[in-house]
Amino acid sequence: METNFLKRDIISIEDFSRKELDYIINYAKEIKNNPENFKEIMKHKTMISLFFENSTRTATSFKMAMLQLGGNVMEFNSQTSSLKKGETLKDTLKMMDGYSPDVVVMRHPNDGSIKFASHILNAPIINAGDGQNQHPTQTMLDLFSIKEITGKINETKIAIVGDLKYGRTAHSLAIALSKYENCKIHFISPESLKVPKKFIDALKEKNIEFSEHNLSELKNIINNIDILYMTRIQRERFPIGKEGEEEYKKISKIYSLKKELLENVKSDFRIMHPLPKIFEIEEEIDKTPFAYYFKQAANGLHIRKALLNLITQNGRI
Ligand code: CP
Repeated sequence: METNFLKRDIISIEDFSRKELDYIINYAKEIKNNPENFKEIMKHKTMISLFFENSTRTATSFKMAMLQLGGNVMEFNSQTSSLKKGETLKDTLKMMDGYSPDVVVMRHPNDGSIKFASHILNAPIINAGDGQNQHPTQTMLDLFSIKEITGKINETKIAIVGDLKYGRTAHSLAIALSKYENCKIHFISPESLKVPKKFIDALKEKNIEFSEHNLSELKNIINNIDILYMTRIQRERFPIGKEGEEEYKKISKIYSLKKELLENVKSDFRIMHPLPKIFEIEEEIDKTPFAYYFKQAANGLHIRKALLNLITQNGRI
């Protein structure tokens, strides 16, 4: 199959066809199975890592991916940079581009900021999460993990649970699944954190079955699904002030997956979570065979290796 990823920006999961997603997933699998074949492929290539928001997994796995492929990483610290003196994001990006990186990885709290950056940079840019909008590389590793669990992505029966308003991973994953066949999504959330209308409208135009539910309905759904995709309540995106605080407290009291709810799930049922998890999964569940979230996070390394190589040199070995 003809694919060309060279110098392509990764801004939204929408920009990738199902064939392209499958190609990336299969390539990442090849890298996961044969890491020794890929040790030097990014030699003399440099990635600039621009994180304007906190990250553990995304920042670290991109860096590890680049280093394990023999490449170099330049980390930009927004807290100690001249942004603090008032320099604009636009000028900062122009400067970074002037140093001739092969690829830029960026996370920013504003929706649309990566698209904005793509118009300034000559180097290809990878969206590592823009506000409450999208997190496309998380979605690619989520699809990779679903395939690892069930052997396929078509026909996935999934419940996506938690903060579906601000949770960008939920938005990207739902859009991605709509590119596959016969998937079914149950969106389960508190009333105040339902999927935004723009994503519901987009899904209505796609070939996917979905339904929306309250948190209390999870018990009626959990025994008939393959994947339970839990998400964190994104406290940092709630309105600042008393009202936001009270809403967060109210939700945190009622949103928690208990081990007893797993008594009658399918034997190959698995729980995914983009992480970090805070209180939404009872700790005992980590020890059950259903917990897949740490393996899922580890898969980020292989997907990010695949993307870095595809974007900078179209998958050269
Ligand atoms: N899943 C994810 O994006 O985690 P980090 O915020 O730690 O990068």
